[in-house]
Amino acid sequence: MEKIVILTGAGISAESGLSTFRDEGGLWAQHRIEDVATPEGFARNPALVQGFYNARRVQAAGVHPNAAHKALARLQQDWPGEVMIVTQNVDSLHEAGGARGVIHMHGTLAGALCSACGHRWTAPPEMAVGEPCPACAQPTARPDVVWFGEMPYCMDEIYDHLASASLFAAIGTSGQVYPAAAFVHEAREAGARTVEINLEPTLGASGFDERVVGKATQTVPRWVDQLLARRS
Ligand code: APR
Repeated sequence: MEKIVILTGAGISAESGLSTFRDEGGLWAQHRIEDVATPEGFARNPALVQGFYNARRVQAAGVHPNAAHKALARLQQDWPGEVMIVTQNVDSLHEAGGARGVIHMHGTLAGALCSACGHRWTAPPEMAVGEPCPACAQPTARPDVVWFGEMPYCMDEIYDHLASASLFAAIGTSGQVYPAAAFVHEAREAGARTVEINLEPTLGASGFDERVVGKATQTVPRWVDQLLARRS
């Protein structure tokens, strides 16, 4: 049965109230990437970086999954084949919407990582500068998110899924950041049909077989309904 691989970006969580990065007034209009989303920025000013992620962690804890998150969970439940969700998002809205086995290639706001010993634990709502690691007690706790210049997580597993995909959908992502932006090419190489679901066609839209334009809370449930109606 057809395997579906779905890549999501900030756009799928926009209607839940979480800012995207590159839209008008987005996070990268409010903060400089090099200050809050790089290891160098963290080394230079850990208070600024911890404050940036604390604010996002607190905000993410206060929002709810929307119809798009829930529709993808329904697809996972009702589709006879495998449905893998790979997200660039660090929020937990896919899981809150009922999705399972979500791969967070850029990490999660809920996670904390010790940069000294590699220990991982559930982050406190607000992480302090010099927060001690529960395992090695060193003051080296950081958000377990992937910063620019760092390797995204689970890449081997993701490429395996792309290599066996029959259908690849990119939902709510601007396709500006690699390696995620190249997943559509990997999927096409594997012979998958590809669809971009976005508020508007992205710069990379022509690389997809199909484009669905509109708000995710409207387009994704409809797309899932059409897929499930066509189940062979
Ligand atoms: N419905 C559908 N798509 C939407 C909606 C919506 N309601 N609102 C916005 N979008 C689309 C925008 O058109 C845009 O293409 O979501 C996309 C958001 O793009 P970005 O802000 O660039 O977010 P994303 O693609 O997830 O960024 C990728 O960049 O900064 C890094 O690590 C960060 O994971 C992030 C990565």
